Amino acid sequence: MLTIKTNYSLKPHNSFGLDVKAKYFVEYENADDLAEFLSNRSSMVNAQCSMFHIGSGSDLLFTKDFDGCILHSAVKGIEKIDECDGHVTLSVGAAENWDDFVAWTIAHGYYGLENLSLIPSEVGAAAVQNIGAYGAEAKDFIVSVHCVDMHTGRQVRHTKDECGFSYRRSNYKEQWRGQYAITHVVFSLPTEFHPNISYKGLSDLPTQGLTAQDVRNKVIELRRSKLPEPSQLGNAGSFFLNPIISADHYNDLRRQYPDIPHYPVTDNAQCSMLNVQCSRLKVPAAWLIEKAGWKGKSLGRAGVYHNQPLVLVNLGGATPDEIVALAAAIMEDVQHKFGITLKPEVIYLD
Ligand code: EPU
Repeated sequence: MLTIKTNYSLKPHNSFGLDVKAKYFVEYENADDLAEFLSNRSSMVNAQCSMFHIGSGSDLLFTKDFDGCILHSAVKGIEKIDECDGHVTLSVGAAENWDDFVAWTIAHGYYGLENLSLIPSEVGAAAVQNIGAYGAEAKDFIVSVHCVDMHTGRQVRHTKDECGFSYRRSNYKEQWRGQYAITHVVFSLPTEFHPNISYKGLSDLPTQGLTAQDVRNKVIELRRSKLPEPSQLGNAGSFFLNPIISADHYNDLRRQYPDIPHYPVTDNAQCSMLNVQCSRLKVPAAWLIEKAGWKGKSLGRAGVYHNQPLVLVNLGGATPDEIVALAAAIMEDVQHKFGITLKPEVIYLD
C-alpha cells in the first residue's frame, strides 16, 4: 500500500522534534509499491520536486520546511534465510525498529548486535549511517543491502563491499545520496555468543556466565546515563564526528592541555575519507566541546547536553535556525581554540 500526504508535519519523523513540514510525505509497504510510485509520480506529486528518503529521522537536521517529497519505508518483517556453520542469515525490512530487532535477535539466540542496543534508528537507516557504539558497528554484521533505484525504479542488491561502509558512513549517505531507497538489509549473526566487551564501560563486566542480555542491559544503562531520550529532549545523538588530527598537532595541544585524551585510528577507510594519514590520532569531540566551555550551555532554545556535550538538544520549541546557529558557534569556537574542524555527523537537509 502507498499513502501520500501533503503539507505534512515532520515533527514525529525527526528526533530533534523540529516542527517542519514536507510538501509531500509518501509511505510505501513494499518495493513494488515504491517502484510504481516512482514510475507514475508525475500523476501523484509534482514531478519536478526533490525527493529525500528518511528512516527514523534520528540523524537528520531539517534546516527549514522541505519543499519536496519525503519518502518513508513501511517495509516490515524479519525473515530467516539460512542457518549454517554457526551463523544465521536474516533479511530484515528497512522500517523495523532497530532496538526491537536487537531484542528479537537475542531472544532467538542470535548474537553480535547486543552492543548496539537502544540506538534510535530503523534498520534501513542503520545501514545508511553504519550506526556504531561500544566497539561494534552495523557493518560488522551486514552481508548485503536490497534497494530500489529511485531514478529507474529497478530493484538492486549491493554487497557489503559495494556499500563502502566506514565510521558513521556508507555510500548511501555520501556519493549515492538520494539514489537508492533501502527495502531490506541482510545480516549474518553468530549463533554462539562471543562477548565483545573490551570497550570502556563494558570491560568491567564479569566474563563468567556472561550473557548477551547482560551486555544489552549494561549498554542500555550506559546510554541512559549519558544520552537524552529523544521523546523527552529532542536530539540526534552525537551531533559531530570525533575528529582525527596529526601527531604533531596533538603534541602541540598536549603542551597546553596535558589531559587531552586520544585514541588510535583503527578505520583505514575513515582516514582515506578524511584524506589524512592513519598515523594520526582521534580526539573526542565531547572533550573539545567541554573544554571550550560549551557543556550545558544554550543559545536560544538549542542546548548542549549537560551529560554528553557531543549531543545538541532541543530545549523545547527550538527552530532549525537555533540548532544550526548553536552548531556553527561551537564549530567556530573549537576551530579557534584548538585549530580543529569539527564535522557534523548529522545530515543537514534544506
Ligand atoms: N568526554 C568529555 N566530556 C563528557 C563526555 C565525554 O570530555 O561529558 C570525553 C571523554 O574523554 C570520554 C570521551 O569523550 O572518554 C568519549 O566519550 P564517550 O565514551 O561517551 O563516547 P563518544 O566518543 O563521545 C562515541 C559515539 C557514540 C557512542 C559512544 C559509545 C561518535 C561520534 N559518537 O561517543 O555514538 O554511543 O562513542 O560507543 O562516534 C551516535 O553516533 O549518535 C552516538 C551516540
